[in-house]
Amino acid sequence: MNLRDQSIKIINENQASTGAYEASPNFPTYAYSWLRDGSFIAYGMLVQGETESTKAFLTWVHETLMKHQEKIQEIVIGMETGKTFAPEELLPTRYTMDGEIEEDDWPNFQIDGYGAWLWLLAEYIQKTGDEYLLVQFQQSVRMTIDYIKLLWDKPNYDCWEEFGDRVHGSTLACLYGGINSINRYLGEMELFQLAAEMKVYVEDNLVASGHFMKNNMDDSVDASLLWLAYPFEMFGVNEERMKNTIAKIEEDLLDEGGVKRYLADTYYGGGQWLILSSWLGIVNVKQGKRDKAKGILEWVEAQAGKIGMPEQVSGIVNDPSHVTPWVEKWGPIAEPLIWSHGMHLTFLKEMERK
Ligand code: BGC
Repeated sequence: MNLRDQSIKIINENQASTGAYEASPNFPTYAYSWLRDGSFIAYGMLVQGETESTKAFLTWVHETLMKHQEKIQEIVIGMETGKTFAPEELLPTRYTMDGEIEEDDWPNFQIDGYGAWLWLLAEYIQKTGDEYLLVQFQQSVRMTIDYIKLLWDKPNYDCWEEFGDRVHGSTLACLYGGINSINRYLGEMELFQLAAEMKVYVEDNLVASGHFMKNNMDDSVDASLLWLAYPFEMFGVNEERMKNTIAKIEEDLLDEGGVKRYLADTYYGGGQWLILSSWLGIVNVKQGKRDKAKGILEWVEAQAGKIGMPEQVSGIVNDPSHVTPWVEKWGPIAEPLIWSHGMHLTFLKEMERK
């Protein structure tokens, strides 16, 4: 079986009957469905023509949000009337396969996934022409928009579940992409302005030495800043600051085709992440640098083992002393990581485009 078909198979095998994707089947800490992982996995399936899988995930998110409708309304009405909420009282980044919220001590307050699912919904409608879905999902879509409107510039945990006291570049990329994409169908001036405000926020608070910053308190680059260009298009790949950001990510974080999250990362030593390598490859395609992208694709595919693609590889790490403590704490690196397969599918599709 070729690796494209293998990625599709592994994703299908890890999609529950509810439509939720499990982040990784062999890594107990990841036995949940994340809105962020899931949206990018479902997008990989969409571009490969596996639209039923995408629709099932979208439906799971809708049903999950409807299940928590009362909580969401309490938050929205509460915030509108000046009430403050502790992070754990807000919406989580991950749910159980049945859409329940699990109380544990792992930081769970992240808002990026709520933007990502709106973006996925708009992409799905564009590809399939199924505009009726917007009618069917109107309540969950509206709740998501109301939630984002109130929280977009508030500190929350980033896409790596860290630094909960800050505002992050990749989070704003997801929220901007979500609001902008869904507004292609809603056509509301207020949402158009909201997306514009997010972009201004990034330009005013997240630029240092001519490149974008990881978050409002850290002027280093994080490879997730690539999301500003792809797929959320806050900035084009030829925009000066974006170009500088991509170049700095390549300089600081790319090694032999593998891309690290950020230089100070010590999770499993801080190795090379397959999703981020695929991301850089896609961005290289957009820059017209196909040869570079091809080298990265080869690297990504060479990491696939018998059971699939891992989350990261620890051949070249930031800090080797942090590898063993993580293995002892949570077990070997997650493999397969379903998101790695989702990004692989998207990368393959982008490589086919002229
Ligand atoms: C990553 C998240 C991801 C989660 C599940 C975490 O280690 O930081 O980005 O959503 O794993 O894959």
